[in-house]
Amino acid sequence: MSAIKCIGILTSGGDAPGMNAAIRAVTRAAIYNGIAVKGIYRGYKGLITGEIVPFKTENVSNIIQHGGTILKTARCLEFKTPEGRKVAYDRIVEEGIDALVVIGGDGTLTGARIFAQEYNYPIVGIPGTIDNDLFGTDITIGYDTALNTIMDAVDKIRDTATSHDRLFFVEVMGRDAGFLALNGAIASGAEAAIIPEIAVEKDQLAETIENGFRKSKNSSIVLVAESDITGGAMGVAERVKTEYPQFDVRVTILGHLQRGGSPTAQDRILASRMGAAAIDALLEDQRNVMTGIQNDQIVYVPFSKAIKNDKPINRELLNTLRILSI
Ligand code: F6P
Repeated sequence: MSAIKCIGILTSGGDAPGMNAAIRAVTRAAIYNGIAVKGIYRGYKGLITGEIVPFKTENVSNIIQHGGTILKTARCLEFKTPEGRKVAYDRIVEEGIDALVVIGGDGTLTGARIFAQEYNYPIVGIPGTIDNDLFGTDITIGYDTALNTIMDAVDKIRDTATSHDRLFFVEVMGRDAGFLALNGAIASGAEAAIIPEIAVEKDQLAETIENGFRKSKNSSIVLVAESDITGGAMGVAERVKTEYPQFDVRVTILGHLQRGGSPTAQDRILASRMGAAAIDALLEDQRNVMTGIQNDQIVYVPFSKAIKNDKPINRELLNTLRILSI
């Protein structure tokens, strides 16, 4: 018999398509195993303010297909302080919540790790972020949907880029990671990607232009990862205007539309598997781990590893992109 009789579930940080599918899976897998569920609204903020509601299976009906998160989300500064975490802990005790399942990215897991250590409290994390930047999992929930959104957007931009013979820089999200830019470029047939992972080792813009891009083409699209290291699409375009004035340059910043939309089948399946796996982890008495997926197998990754290690990009993809853009 598990000592855990009731869990709390929350989503925190930037929302990601598939979070609802994960909420559904966690709730139903818990109830299936005789564990009560409480939904905590607005992430860690809801723990502090007490926005906590009992969840039945009906609370998660009809949500698998929706983007965003029915539990809402927030970035909570108070939870970063010991005083804020003490209020949260007292609330958890008052509510009779024996363990937490938190769905989110780097910041969410960092908060979970500190809290779990401070109060010796069981928490399981589920990686929900479009950035795909958590170590120990091949993929995070929301990443595939965001990639598809980027691909659709770039397909449209290509129509106008081709008609006007223009060079487009399309900025995509990812915080300090280039997964969306690199794979988005391959999926949309873009000419190049400028990503933070290799920004310090080479001048990607100069290389792209000097490699003769546009020699055989009248228009080009380059995906640029948002980041201070790459300078973002605006920064890159400014450089082109001064260093390569022969190009007719335009910039599109895709922004938050990348975070919305109905999750793809891949994200729904991933979220469903990880949600069920989070409950398995608690039943097995695992704590302070993130559910991950490696080679299609569920794994449990200690918070410390998931957060601290930088997830490497696959360098073969850079080569593939270069070859295919001739
Ligand atoms: O972490 C997800 C993400 O969408 C990043 O790609 C982006 O840099 C950030 O969140 C934007 O955050 P906000 O919605 O708070 O502006």
